Amino acid sequence: MINLYPTLGRNLLFLLDAEKAHTLSIQALKLGLYPRFNNRFDPRLGVDIAGLSFPNPLGMAAGYDKNGDAPDPLLQMGFGHAEVGTVTPQPQPGNPKPRIFRLVEDHGVINRLGFNSKGHQRVVATLQQHDSSKGIVGVNIGANKTSQDFAADYVAGIHAFADIATYFTVNISSPNTPGLRALQGGDPLIDLLQRVDEARLQETKKSGRRIPVFLKIAPDLDDSELDAIAQALEQSDIDALIVSNTTLSRVGLSSPNKDETGGLSGKPLFDRATIILAKMRLRLPEGFPLIGVGGITDAETAFSKMEAGANLIQLYSGLIYGGPGLPGKILTGLAQRLDEEKVDSIQNIVGRKAKDWSALKLV
Ligand SMILES: Cc1cc2nc3c(=O)[nH]c(=O)nc-3n(C[C@H](O)[C@H](O)[C@H](O)COP(=O)(O)O)c2cc1C
Repeated sequence: MINLYPTLGRNLLFLLDAEKAHTLSIQALKLGLYPRFNNRFDPRLGVDIAGLSFPNPLGMAAGYDKNGDAPDPLLQMGFGHAEVGTVTPQPQPGNPKPRIFRLVEDHGVINRLGFNSKGHQRVVATLQQHDSSKGIVGVNIGANKTSQDFAADYVAGIHAFADIATYFTVNISSPNTPGLRALQGGDPLIDLLQRVDEARLQETKKSGRRIPVFLKIAPDLDDSELDAIAQALEQSDIDALIVSNTTLSRVGLSSPNKDETGGLSGKPLFDRATIILAKMRLRLPEGFPLIGVGGITDAETAFSKMEAGANLIQLYSGLIYGGPGLPGKILTGLAQRLDEEKVDSIQNIVGRKAKDWSALKLV
């Protein structure tokens, strides 16, 4: 299929408000209007972590398919896993629109959606229709804005999706829910991880299946905060760390939308998120799985993210600029790099440049 997205498709979608374009793209996926990538089972790209076998390292990051409408199309497009959510216990509308802004000149996005979600019950019902034989579908869980006990909302998420999630992500790093990022340190983090561990243990006892739980952090953390997270992870049963969510930083941007409130993602996030990823790689025990997200736009940035320490990678904003052919292009590019370097497994490059990346200064 000729890829018209970078020219025609993108120009048309960019005429629309960003959130309308997003809704339209989900509709297109549901109607089957997307390119299939049929070559996604190159065994050299396979990744085994947290007791799961990922067919390739590239996943769809949370926030694109918040309500679980299109995990199967995303997997058909080439993604080795699709992360649905963030889902909150009760339905909530999120912040007033407009709340997603393209930063075209910077290849970035700012969003302040504020966890718009159809809520656990509706998303469980939608996901029950998905064909679970098709691949790995994680559920990213969050808290309602008006919740009196954020940790209880994550516990509710574990119980609600235990029968259908391949893995969970505990998302404590959205900048758009006031107070949420405070869960990233000290006693609140330790308490949260304990309660999540307990909920998962209860579900494991019931079903005999231990569902991996990942934690997703922000890129706006200093060295001592990263130390505290590494320590808390070592005391917990969490299976992997996702680095990172969007940033509040606004360095080096030129787009007219650069001063919008919200979290910044896409190309301008790449360096910051990759440095924080590498810092965590060096803080955590060798072999502890890391998932690198933030600013991946092509095979080169995907490869660099893995060299900095990621076992798996995810993207979202890159898809807005690169279109639905991007996952296939990235996977083909990664396989080419393995050919060129005569490496038999993508896992052999993980972290080999972690020291170089972690030594870079955050700006
Ligand atoms: C419009 C939008 C909505 C998002 N919503 C969520 C979300 O609900 N939960 C979450 O964990 N991350 C969310 N994210 C963050 C992404 O999952 C990802 O961590 C971040 O965008 C960095 O990756 P990228 O540069 O490839 O976009 C969202 C990002 C965007 C652009």
